[in-house]
Amino acid sequence: MIEIDNVSRDYGDGKVVHALQAVTLSIPKGERVAVMGPSGSGKSTLLNLLCGLDQPTAGTVKIDGVALSSLDDDSRTRLRREKIGMIFQTFNLLPTLTAVENVALPLRLQGVGKKEAEQRARKLLGRVGLGDRASHRPDELSGGERQRMAIARALVFEPPVLLADEPTGNLDSATGQEILELIDGLHGEYNTTIVLVTHNEEAAMHCDRIVRLRDGRIVKQESVGSLAAEVV
Ligand SMILES: Nc1ncnc2c1ncn2[C@@H]1O[C@H](COP(=O)(O)OP(=O)(O)OP(=O)(O)O)[C@@H](O)[C@H]1O
Ligand SMILES: [Mg+2]
Repeated sequence: MIEIDNVSRDYGDGKVVHALQAVTLSIPKGERVAVMGPSGSGKSTLLNLLCGLDQPTAGTVKIDGVALSSLDDDSRTRLRREKIGMIFQTFNLLPTLTAVENVALPLRLQGVGKKEAEQRARKLLGRVGLGDRASHRPDELSGGERQRMAIARALVFEPPVLLADEPTGNLDSATGQEILELIDGLHGEYNTTIVLVTHNEEAAMHCDRIVRLRDGRIVKQESVGSLAAEVV
């Protein structure tokens, strides 16, 4: 369960950017929410607040009833490691580690042994179509391959919450479709709560609800079931 209550995030102190303005949103366990909106509307800012990598200027973010602001840095890091799979828009892969090491990292940080962690990482690399790239480092991969590596890393520990920033942005439509199906499968198996930032209406249709942001505010919310009904 994610509760975002009246959250604002301002950047800068001279000319202030109001990246998010009084956003309130409640996401029950297992719901899939697509966040859409123009470039600069606050989507990535919202994800960074949800995983506790950034703090709001005002308002509170709670994960399973715990306010992120009430935790110290170590506890916040632990919560992120245990509960939140994050696919960053800029991937945030470690350049000196190979694909299998990058993907195994969240498991290693949870204390899983090297052999088992790398075995699970290899399996997931196979599922994102990178089985034969396991020993490549990020700079030896294409943009779309790096994106798939970042996706594998976020999914490897079967997180209860998945935050994904444009996970299909750099992929051709067939690969993008496979990734969405992989995420659907994760949701089906573990009832994962998903927040998916996307510019793609088709990807958004894999969710239960679409939240539209503009200038840091929620301007519209739609349930995907009702949209599908309109199409029929
Ligand atoms: N560290 C920062 N310092 C100052 N301004 C920032 C910072 N990060 C983001 N912003 C500003 O906050 C606003 C929201 O940025 P954000 O990255 O959340 O947009 P976005 O919706 O993810 O856009 P995109 O679709 O291009 O990824 C933008 O106007 C951006 O310029
Ligand atoms: Mg963004």
